[in-house]
Amino acid sequence: MEPAMQYRRLGRSGLQVSELSLGSWITYHNQVDTQAATEMLAAAYDAGVNFFDNAEVYALGKSEEVMGAAFKKLGWARHRYIVSTKFFWGIDRDAAHTTNFKDTLNRKYLMQAIDGSLKRLQLDHVDLIYCHRPDPHTPIEETVWAMSDIIRQGKALYWGTSEWSADEIRAAWAIAERHHLHKPVMEQPQYNLFHRKRVEQEYARLYEDIGLGLTTWSPLASGLLTGKYKSGIPEGSRGAMENMAWMRDQLQDPARNKAVGELEGIAAELGGNVAQLAIAWINSNPRVSTVILGASKLAQLQDNLGALALTPKLTPEVLARIDALCKPLAA
Ligand SMILES: NC(=O)c1ccc[n+]([C@@H]2O[C@H](COP(=O)([O-])OP(=O)(O)OC[C@H]3O[C@@H](n4cnc5c(N)ncnc54)[C@H](OP(=O)(O)O)[C@@H]3O)[C@@H](O)[C@H]2O)c1
Repeated sequence: MEPAMQYRRLGRSGLQVSELSLGSWITYHNQVDTQAATEMLAAAYDAGVNFFDNAEVYALGKSEEVMGAAFKKLGWARHRYIVSTKFFWGIDRDAAHTTNFKDTLNRKYLMQAIDGSLKRLQLDHVDLIYCHRPDPHTPIEETVWAMSDIIRQGKALYWGTSEWSADEIRAAWAIAERHHLHKPVMEQPQYNLFHRKRVEQEYARLYEDIGLGLTTWSPLASGLLTGKYKSGIPEGSRGAMENMAWMRDQLQDPARNKAVGELEGIAAELGGNVAQLAIAWINSNPRVSTVILGASKLAQLQDNLGALALTPKLTPEVLARIDALCKPLAA
């Protein structure tokens, strides 16, 4: 039997998120239809997952539609789960008149984006909303007011950022503090064995200073940390998808794939596999509120949830061996 899921406070907020959560980037609509999504959401929920991550831009709104339809089928009481969405790129991108609705965090875009997401998710509120990237062209003050106003309207409960610099996060927090607005409570950064510096160095002071929580993404570096790319791009994998061609060099990086091969040995000694080890490693960082998993198949999700069993086995000695292999290769 797997150890029980633990719950952690999302930064300084009172909200408790499951240490492992589940997201829908790339997968929903493209690889995972409503039926498969329903099965995976149910499996995650049964394992104790309470947080499901989404974004307006995923499959240009279709990912929210799939998740919304799946929630409807599952019929869970709304207070039992946490759902997020994120705004920045916009989904109405083509015509000249949409210039205010793409690659922006301006008030006009944000105030309508939330309504579109709620409609597609078939919900009257989401729990978490994120500014999906920083927008250098909109004053941070305007964005902070808009995110806070969305919360005041009851359409979302907490807000945060994704891939903002430490300075931008601190500036947003200070503006909210000054004007008694809702403050950003969490960041969503990439964090995995090959991508560490932002979480471990750049944000280091923010955890205590402003109580920043982290919902981290791409725990397996898009599948690299499963070992599946050691001898090329397997058919049916993310790397084989036409629109993911830009990722192929990263996935096939020889030095990183060699390190993954060596990590497999450590994982086997601990009674798990390399994907579970990579997820457990993230989970062992107390700054991480929740590790957002990705899966295109139910079996992958079940496999990855096995990381819970490995987490307590990551002793300082094991962590040092992992560091020796991966730290020199990490961004
Ligand atoms: N805020 C942001 O900017 C941002 C960016 C990216 C992601 N995210 C969030 O983070 C979530 C997770 O990111 P991610 O999907 O990139 O996570 P990931 O764990 O790095 O990659 C997941 C992919 O790896 C493959 N995989 C997963 N488990 C496997 C296993 N046990 N064996 C073999 N292959 C396996 C699957 O792809 P294939 O089967 O197709 O190969 C799966 O879709 C997203 O869904 C999203 O919610 C946020």
